[in-house]
Amino acid sequence: MTPHHFLSIADLSERQLRACLRLAARCKRNPRLGARALEGRVLALVFQKPSVRTRVSFEVAVRQLGGSAMYLGPDDAQLGTREPIKDVARTLSRYVDGIIVRTFRHSQVEEFARYASVPVINGLSELHHPCQALADLFTMQERFGGLKGRTVSYVGDGNNVLHSLAQAAAILGLHLRVATPDGYRPNRRIWRETARRAARRGARLAWVASPQDAARGADVLYTDVWTSMGQERERAARLKAFRRFQVNRRLLSEAARGCIVMHCLPAHRGEEITEDVLESRQSVVFDQAENRLHAQKALLMMVYGGRS
Ligand code: CP
Ligand code: NVA
Repeated sequence: MTPHHFLSIADLSERQLRACLRLAARCKRNPRLGARALEGRVLALVFQKPSVRTRVSFEVAVRQLGGSAMYLGPDDAQLGTREPIKDVARTLSRYVDGIIVRTFRHSQVEEFARYASVPVINGLSELHHPCQALADLFTMQERFGGLKGRTVSYVGDGNNVLHSLAQAAAILGLHLRVATPDGYRPNRRIWRETARRAARRGARLAWVASPQDAARGADVLYTDVWTSMGQERERAARLKAFRRFQVNRRLLSEAARGCIVMHCLPAHRGEEITEDVLESRQSVVFDQAENRLHAQKALLMMVYGGRS
């Protein structure tokens, strides 16, 4: 039987995504829900990059669902250098019931999934951060109730977080306006496929050159770091290219009244976002961080409990 992998948001149907968000809300209301869903199961976290939220929220989620989690850091697995990924994937599948992978290249997550006989969950690659998007959409739903017709504005780098956010927005029918510097647009293939899916849903997915045009009238103003993990050598060039793309008071004043500010964290204050905006009453960044836990519990219950 093929295991239920979760590598990108595009793996989900609208029905599954909505079910996951509903279940996340139930998990948040009742932390004991599904207390035995992972009873007797062990999940491995294979992380090649640092993490606070993803690691801790998954470890806590697994424990609250009655299972246990095991962390393998960059020195343990040494993917592709000590051993090929296909061997690690097949070996771990003989011990554990699922693998959460955080790596540099998305092709490595896909290789894990190809060879593992247990579910593989993407805990961030350079192209996707689907667990983040589950928490993000859950947070928006919590704030606004229905999401249909809402406008989300993303200002910054066309990166993993944006790709997953865009895919989720397209499935649920949100409008998404994105402003990035020209050389840092989202991945062309992902953008094209996502725009097609959005159009089928009657939602708009638009790239604009100006952060002000993106932010105007938005219900959500979202940003992420300009230099992602693995891009540290490009930092100086990126600081220069992104200068006009900071989320600050002036940009926020373009948005709708009641607009919320979102950031997946960690944040680089003074770069993509100013301290005052991050700490403002409009900022929901710690709700987002908390909601990683509830959204991932829902995801795990669906993967292992057949709940959908
Ligand atoms: N947002 C997020 O994934 O945070 P970590 O890198 O700390 O896991
Ligand atoms: N885009 C960031 C997200 C961190 C959670 C990165 O990949 O480093």
